[in-house]
Amino acid sequence: MVAFIIKASHICIYIAFRSSGFNQLSHKEIICLGLESSCDDTAAAIVKRHADGSAEILANIIHTQTDVHAPFGGVVPELAARAHIEYMDRMVKQALTTAALGYDDLDLVAATSGPGLLGGLIVGLMSGKAISLAHDLPFVAVNHLEGHALTAGLSDGIKPPYLLLLISGGHTQILQVNAVGNYQLLGTTIDDAIGEAFDKVAKLLGLGYPGGPFVEAYATKGDATRFKLPRPMKGRDNCDFSFSGLKTAVLHAAKAIEPVNEQDKYDICAAFQAAAADVLADRVGRAMLKFRQNLAAADDQNFPLIIAGGVASNKAIAQKLDILAQNHNFKLIVPPAKLCTDNGAMIAWAGIEQYLLGNISDLTAPPRARWPLYE
Ligand code: KG4
Ligand code: ZN
Repeated sequence: MVAFIIKASHICIYIAFRSSGFNQLSHKEIICLGLESSCDDTAAAIVKRHADGSAEILANIIHTQTDVHAPFGGVVPELAARAHIEYMDRMVKQALTTAALGYDDLDLVAATSGPGLLGGLIVGLMSGKAISLAHDLPFVAVNHLEGHALTAGLSDGIKPPYLLLLISGGHTQILQVNAVGNYQLLGTTIDDAIGEAFDKVAKLLGLGYPGGPFVEAYATKGDATRFKLPRPMKGRDNCDFSFSGLKTAVLHAAKAIEPVNEQDKYDICAAFQAAAADVLADRVGRAMLKFRQNLAAADDQNFPLIIAGGVASNKAIAQKLDILAQNHNFKLIVPPAKLCTDNGAMIAWAGIEQYLLGNISDLTAPPRARWPLYE
């Protein structure tokens, strides 16, 4: 169902879509401006969907607020919202300049409307709506998680069904992607997100922010066997995660050997990363079985396993999942890091996919702090 559309031109588009179907549109070239501001990245991108369905990123501009949040060791919502206000217009301008396009060349505007931090969401959403209104363009309010879920289509032309492991600072989920708009949650964290756990371990050891890349670099110099850390949820008869106990175990291990020297930090990081990778592999292994069951697919049928989110750039985790995938007849796909972390291109692409399904948003579409993909 498409909600009430304010502008006359949009009503025409809507009626045309509903009466003739969206098939005609899918044979047309579509250029979309996508805006992202749900956490600490202010991003604007322009993506072209060619008539043959392939994607081309014409611009992908991102401003990451690392400097603003680093002193606090985590994202401060109020500061994030202010930084989005400061940067969003510049990102849009840069995206248009990079793509050598004007507003008149766009067919569509998409903006993240949730889930995320409300202050930031409002900035991107209002910018998108204002552009839509001023330039007479249809608007699509995009679910940020759907942006991540469909990225493999943008980067590698992968089509559903596939298994998606989303591992970021805010999310840890395993999703079965059946089709655009058809997602099934197979597993989720019952407490912390995995990226959050990496960030907290880094903070505890006095490394930098965001913590993931520091922990990974320290781990390469460490002995993963020196500290015995737990593997929460491993072996459980579901696909869920828990990282809070692992983080606390790291805290106890560090306290027990105070003062902690550099070699201790290397070893703690190695042990933590090995435990996290181990748990991920166990949970995804179970999800692979469930995925096959759900699709009634044979054991030898090959499917893609996509990983997305900032933690997907961790080489040790990717390696472990690659071996798991090979053993279970899945093919691991890791989109480029710039498309795995938060970006506007994935929002533009998800916006195009929704547009093709006939889902144009009302200009009263609200920001949503919570918005599960699978409701
Ligand atoms: O997807 P993302 O850029 O933003 C959201 O959280 O939505 O993910 C950021 C998270 C942070 O927690 C960061 O520490 C983690 O991804 N991260 C990593 C690595 N690079 C980024 N975690 C582990 N290893 C990495 N190499
Ligand atoms: Zn994200």
